[in-house]
Amino acid sequence: MITLGSNLENVKAIQGPQNQNPAKGVVPVTSTNDSKNIDILIGAQWGDEGKGKWVDILSEKSDLIVRYQGGNNAGHTIYVNGEKKVLHLLPSGVFRNKACMIGAGVVVNPVVLQEELKNACSSGFEAKNLWVSGRAHLITPWHIHLDQEFEGRRDKPIGTTKRGIGPTYSDRARRIGLRASFCKSPERMATWKKQMSMLEPKFSDFLETNSEEWKAFDKACTQIAKQVCDAEARLRKWAVAGKSILIEGAQGALLDVDHGSYPFVTSSNTIAGGACASLGISPRWIRDIYGIAKAYATRVGEGPFPTELNDASGKHLADVGHEKGATTGRPRRCGWLDLVALKYAVDVCGINKLIINKLDVLSGLDTLKICTSYKKSADNDASPWMEACEAEPNYHELSGWKKLSEKPNIATADDFSDETRSYLAYIEKFLDQKIDRIGFGVDRSSFV
Ligand code: GDP
Ligand code: IMO
Ligand code: MG
Repeated sequence: MITLGSNLENVKAIQGPQNQNPAKGVVPVTSTNDSKNIDILIGAQWGDEGKGKWVDILSEKSDLIVRYQGGNNAGHTIYVNGEKKVLHLLPSGVFRNKACMIGAGVVVNPVVLQEELKNACSSGFEAKNLWVSGRAHLITPWHIHLDQEFEGRRDKPIGTTKRGIGPTYSDRARRIGLRASFCKSPERMATWKKQMSMLEPKFSDFLETNSEEWKAFDKACTQIAKQVCDAEARLRKWAVAGKSILIEGAQGALLDVDHGSYPFVTSSNTIAGGACASLGISPRWIRDIYGIAKAYATRVGEGPFPTELNDASGKHLADVGHEKGATTGRPRRCGWLDLVALKYAVDVCGINKLIINKLDVLSGLDTLKICTSYKKSADNDASPWMEACEAEPNYHELSGWKKLSEKPNIATADDFSDETRSYLAYIEKFLDQKIDRIGFGVDRSSFV
């Protein structure tokens, strides 16, 4: 008779020790491995919270940085030695030349990726450090065309970035998508085009009349083919080997296709839970979930935004915060911090490390408001985002501050002015959670 426990020991003995060098590719991954070195960082509002900057900061201690969803609808800004860099597809660890991965749940425009990779390499990144999942889906000129056409025909446009995101995810779900692994095989690529011509009546015409775009697409596919691999298998091996892994979200929790303000959302799962499904890893492996919120709120594109401001305070936030889209250049809508929405994001994502960012932008406003409930919402505790379209906020007012601190250098949160500390304490009390870190400037060092 075999007892279960001894059988497991036997299996482990056959598979070898747990902590071998992952580069050798021999670390066994079993359901019994218990990695706890993976953190997820997500936006806790409608995107543009400062994820790029914070991934850059936190990735100093990481071995691998991973994008798990979205595509080049994202625009993540990082300042490296005073120089501004904007990334749309590459994880924000490239400027530290860390291993970087684009996972299965990402939609990849090969032309954009090729260009971005070239630029990153000219800043010292080594292309061999980029792993692109063969399971990721490719955005083609056809998908970009569909996105533009759909937006034009909708009676209420979403205000998409027109980067082909929705149609690419849609083809994935329809099981007619083009996976990155196809980059390695011109034959499979040709078969895909043939199939599309049969399934989509206008595809053949589009292929013919946009031959230059397709040529550029095909060329980029060939160029990125070297990076395409079974990235998820490598990720699991690194996790089991105890490597430190940081997963970088794009967009924000309130743009989640299931849990955001549908239909004014993006087409992927932006919440933290989406990371495990998109990357093929166990939820048991996640350690911390960082959620980033601005000290106020912004939104690009259409959709509900209860605390939106169209007055002098809104102009202050837009001007001082330089609130212009990093991808499309569109002005971002600005408003007061919405704690009902933020609490929802904290709950839905299980955020245990809350970061409040861009606190400096509030300096100079006499009075600050924070939304604490909605007037018309029937149930502020349930999922207010299901019914927030008409929501009118109830506000709590606090005194503003002229300067964040009287001290020349802010070394701890205690250095902030009394008013600043009261603002932060109010957020902590409402969310019943300590703020983990606070950002107050664009560069790598402006945080406590
Ligand atoms: P992401 O999409 O979440 O990475 O954010 P974006 O890069 O789209 O937008 C954030 C913008 O705010 C960028 O221009 C950043 O340089 C800037 N930023 C980030 N953190 C701070 C901060 O603490 N203070 C100020 N004033 N700007 C910041
Ligand atoms: P990062 O990662 C802010 C918004 C668009 C639009 C909606 C759907 O920089 O925070 P899509 O092109 O995804 O189909 O557009 O989502 N959106 C973003 N807003 N930041 C982003 O990314 C966004 N990515 C998409 O403006 O309202
Ligand atoms: Mg952005």
